Amino acid sequence: MNPNKQLWEKGDFTRIAETMRESGEALVADLGIGDGLQVLDLGCGDGTTALPAAQRGADVLGVDIASNLIAAGKARAEVLGLTNCEFEEGDASDLHAIADERFDLVLTIFGAMFASRPFDVAKEMVRVTKPGGRIVMGNWIPNDPTLVPQILKISSSYAPPPPEGFVSPMTWGVEDEVIERFSSAGVPDERISCDRETYTFNYPGPPSEFVGVFRNFYGPTMNAFEAAAGDGREADLHADLETLFNEQNTSDGATSIPANFLRVTVER
Ligand SMILES: C[S@@+](CC[C@H](N)C(=O)[O-])C[C@H]1O[C@@H](n2cnc3c(N)ncnc32)[C@H](O)[C@@H]1O
Repeated sequence: MNPNKQLWEKGDFTRIAETMRESGEALVADLGIGDGLQVLDLGCGDGTTALPAAQRGADVLGVDIASNLIAAGKARAEVLGLTNCEFEEGDASDLHAIADERFDLVLTIFGAMFASRPFDVAKEMVRVTKPGGRIVMGNWIPNDPTLVPQILKISSSYAPPPPEGFVSPMTWGVEDEVIERFSSAGVPDERISCDRETYTFNYPGPPSEFVGVFRNFYGPTMNAFEAAAGDGREADLHADLETLFNEQNTSDGATSIPANFLRVTVER
């Protein structure tokens, strides 16, 4: 099986996504989405941004590599009675089932950044966007001191080194890399812009409990715990994450953790 698919079908990303809904909705509200806009949500997960886009009247297709998250997205759309939001399994680095220039907006929030072959991902996103349309990406930023890069940094210090030739998803958070990838897909530099913004994770319990959610349900952290268990270092990993989550928490009694990301906008 594709290791990326295996990683994201592990656990249950919905348990993390539930803590990211407010920021997803706020981001969608800022995109000027209205009736009939054709939207592709790439790496859509269970629909954190796809569903609010459909609620604003867009015709949305959510594509994700993980079949469990596609099923979760369909179930959520059904509960909301949304008939203008479809979900399909697919790989952001090869969207062969999608026609050229189909979408007004290609949205990918911490989604396509995780696909392999980033130059193909950029090319595919440009190909399926209409001339005059937009691509909007949310990408975590490498070495940023906030939550997700730090979780990945701590996790990688417990895991074996990645295979040779592995391109870190975090490179999508580096402006020069973003420009190089979209330039090679034919987009002039002046049509690519990058801004730093914040996403907030809100969890109703204390940070120590939120660490448990990552440990039990977030594929990359689950893998790190498996690697740490091999060396008898699970408790150390857990303690490092608890320190991180406590340091980043801004709430009394619950958990609220703001995290920086790079918002990339490409005008096609
Ligand atoms: C951090 S989650 C974000 C999900 C969603 N965008 C959200 O905001 O909740 C990353 C998502 O990217 C998906 N993904 C990873 N690699 C992918 C690929 N090659 N093609 C499509 N989706 C992919 C994962 O299955 C997962 O749903």
